[in-house]
Amino acid sequence: MSLYAFELGRKKDLCFAELITILGKDKLVERNLDTAIFDLKIPNYQGLQDKLGGTVKIVKLWNKIPLEDSRADKLEQHIKPHLEEIFTDHKGKINFAVSTLSFNNPKEINIKQILNFSKLILKSLGLNSRFVNKNFENTKPSTIYAAHVLEKGIDINIIKGNEDIFIGETVAIQNIDNYSKRDYDKPWRDARVGMLPPKVAQIMINLAGANTKAIFDPFCGTGTTLLEGALMGKDVVGSDIDQRMIDYSEGNMRWAEQEFQTKNVYRVFTKDARFLTKEDLPEKVEAIVTEGYLGEPVSRLPALEIRQKVFRELANLHLNWLTAIHRITPKNCKVVMCVAGFRKNNDKYHPEYEFLPRFNELVEETGYRVVTSYIYDRPDQIVVREIKVLEKL
Ligand SMILES: C[S@@+](CC[C@H](N)C(=O)[O-])C[C@H]1O[C@@H](n2cnc3c(N)ncnc32)[C@H](O)[C@@H]1O
Repeated sequence: MSLYAFELGRKKDLCFAELITILGKDKLVERNLDTAIFDLKIPNYQGLQDKLGGTVKIVKLWNKIPLEDSRADKLEQHIKPHLEEIFTDHKGKINFAVSTLSFNNPKEINIKQILNFSKLILKSLGLNSRFVNKNFENTKPSTIYAAHVLEKGIDINIIKGNEDIFIGETVAIQNIDNYSKRDYDKPWRDARVGMLPPKVAQIMINLAGANTKAIFDPFCGTGTTLLEGALMGKDVVGSDIDQRMIDYSEGNMRWAEQEFQTKNVYRVFTKDARFLTKEDLPEKVEAIVTEGYLGEPVSRLPALEIRQKVFRELANLHLNWLTAIHRITPKNCKVVMCVAGFRKNNDKYHPEYEFLPRFNELVEETGYRVVTSYIYDRPDQIVVREIKVLEKL
């Protein structure tokens, strides 16, 4: 077993919940500001990274040192032997980065000095190197990815833990190009039905359980959850009230078979989710994962009466489709779904929301209970999502 830090994406609690579901709470060592540290064995770093929508990168930790040793000269003593071990006998030019995580105050750590001594250590090994940090500041993961730092060199991480400083190297990073291909290059997209980012679909699928083999999305739209599920090796079933969406999902799944060689079983069909019956779902699905219906798209915050009307309609829909799905799924079949809400301002630090009232009571009427709930939004969005995990009562 070794210690690994998982850098959490933008919605940290949601990303952390995904890790706990997939890696297990018993493996957690600590959670700090930007990372969660686990004691694990990882046979395939990038394979694990590619399955985690909420993890930005995975860092293999080399050392744990006292908090007061974060001065650059102290750090040098710990970093030098690792660089020597990794790069002795290395050939070719090196791209490297120094990343700091979980420091509230960037001034706590002198990145310039770390970059300079690392370059000197590499030089002493006869290696030319270039660091990708701009203005001696912290690097963005996208810069590390674009500069092929993991292939051509090393991303050295200094992480402020709760009681120690952790030092380590990045072993896997989010493949931005692949996400963007799945998001933008699939043949069928429709801005009106909303666009669930592939990363969020992955997180939702993971929240349904680590070993779920087959999932069902009864509001599948263009098939984002189906596509992500198939890429994660799951069998997928999807339905939607709109035949056009079913055609889109089918087209996107065929595209995934060609582009990504997905081999899992998939099936899609047209159906109003409120009236699903056992005959519609002969497959043994182990989880329902769906963005669901979020109401009509809006370009500005609707008036109070309109918002109340939207909530009434959505409450009615949720009541009916959850009742239907409860009847036709096994006892341990969780539901991971989005519930629409409104964001009433675009203040990054003090967002104000309005969510579907009394959703928990509504859910209990259908035979479920809400286990966890996370807001997923961006400051410029008006319709926002609450991601909910439901279990049968
Ligand atoms: C927000 S979209 C889902 C988008 C989807 N996640 C995707 O990636 O494209 C909601 C979908 O719910 C469907 N829908 C609305 N009411 C429905 C109902 N009663 N039963 C089944 N599908 C419904 C719409 O046709 C639409 O495709």
